[in-house]
Amino acid sequence: MTTIPTTDLAVSAAGLVKTFGDLRAVDGIDLEVRRGEVFGVLGPNGAGKTTTMQMLATLLPIDAGEARIFGVDVRREPHVVRQLLGVTGQYASVDELLTATENLVLFGRLLGLDRARARSTAARLLEQFGLQEAASKPIKQFSGGMRRRLDLAASLITRPPLIFLDEPTTGLDPRTRGQMWETIRELVADGCTVLLTTQYLDEADQLADRIAVVDRGAIVAQGTSDELKASVGRSTLQLTLVEPERLAEAAQVVHRVLGEDAVPTPEARRLNIPLERSDQAVDVLVALRELGVAIDSVTVQKPSLDEVFMALTGHDTQADTQADTQADTQADTQADTQQGTTTDLDDTPADAAADAPMEALR
Ligand SMILES: Nc1ncnc2c1ncn2[C@@H]1O[C@H](COP(=O)(O)OP(=O)(O)O)[C@@H](O)[C@H]1O
Ligand SMILES: [Mg+2]
Repeated sequence: MTTIPTTDLAVSAAGLVKTFGDLRAVDGIDLEVRRGEVFGVLGPNGAGKTTTMQMLATLLPIDAGEARIFGVDVRREPHVVRQLLGVTGQYASVDELLTATENLVLFGRLLGLDRARARSTAARLLEQFGLQEAASKPIKQFSGGMRRRLDLAASLITRPPLIFLDEPTTGLDPRTRGQMWETIRELVADGCTVLLTTQYLDEADQLADRIAVVDRGAIVAQGTSDELKASVGRSTLQLTLVEPERLAEAAQVVHRVLGEDAVPTPEARRLNIPLERSDQAVDVLVALRELGVAIDSVTVQKPSLDEVFMALTGHDTQADTQADTQADTQADTQADTQQGTTTDLDDTPADAAADAPMEALR
């Protein structure tokens, strides 16, 4: 394992720019990823996620700005940076005719492991990723989900301290997505730092400690999922009263405590109260108890991340990503459940899963 230079930042980038002809695909991106965290770069197709990641990974020249990986300058010492990084792409870069084991052994040998180490590492990774049964099958029989897992396994041969995952679950069916999320959480529990890109709001919500929302080559917002939600729209306190006839009285209390008008729904015995901050809920509850108004149930609802994205960018994340998803997802499910069947899968992953990424947050 490579010695990691001592710095708390796994990634630090300032003013990153990449232009393709007239297009500023990455237009001044600043990023700081802390050691040990999962950092999510969330944005729609074409936002510049892959281009940013490829510059950080030394795979594309940086046009302007600077980037460091664990303090090592990406432009000046690309060979050192590559030793600190595991990179998986949206495409599994493995040989179709070789088996899963042969692929991993080949990568291990290319990365300088001796034959015995390469074999034992391959076996360990295949087990870790639940691919033992498929170990002796050629990759061309693999489903999209199995390919993605093998791709991730290949990037872990050298146990890199930092892993880049470019849309790790795009095009996968929900069950396989869940498995991938578990794997990513295990990597982090093991001490890895993860930078991942995603088009899925729920994926960023589930996995990422911090999120940068990118749109058209620029970061439009950054923070924890909770911070992003708090920055847009307000939380709502929903109170259900034991005695609905006291709704009006309760609404007066809310007005006195918060200066806000609560919206009563008499048929549901409920008050909806807009909050500036979540802790205001406590003030309201204390005041109601002092008056002896009995509460049946209390919930605080935060705005969802998709509402945040819409508010920040003026459009949702699947505007241009809905094409050709069904086929890949179906093929994926089939090949995962009936291993051994030859599935003629297109190498191009679908641009978005059919499992309606936005729905999961609602
Ligand atoms: N090699 C390239 N040549 C020209 N345009 C490119 C190239 N790579 C990416 N782009 C364009 O740059 C923009 C950002 O692409 P990309 O980084 O792949 O976005 P994302 O990964 O967020 O979907 C897109 O408009 C894309 O078409
Ligand atoms: Mg991409």
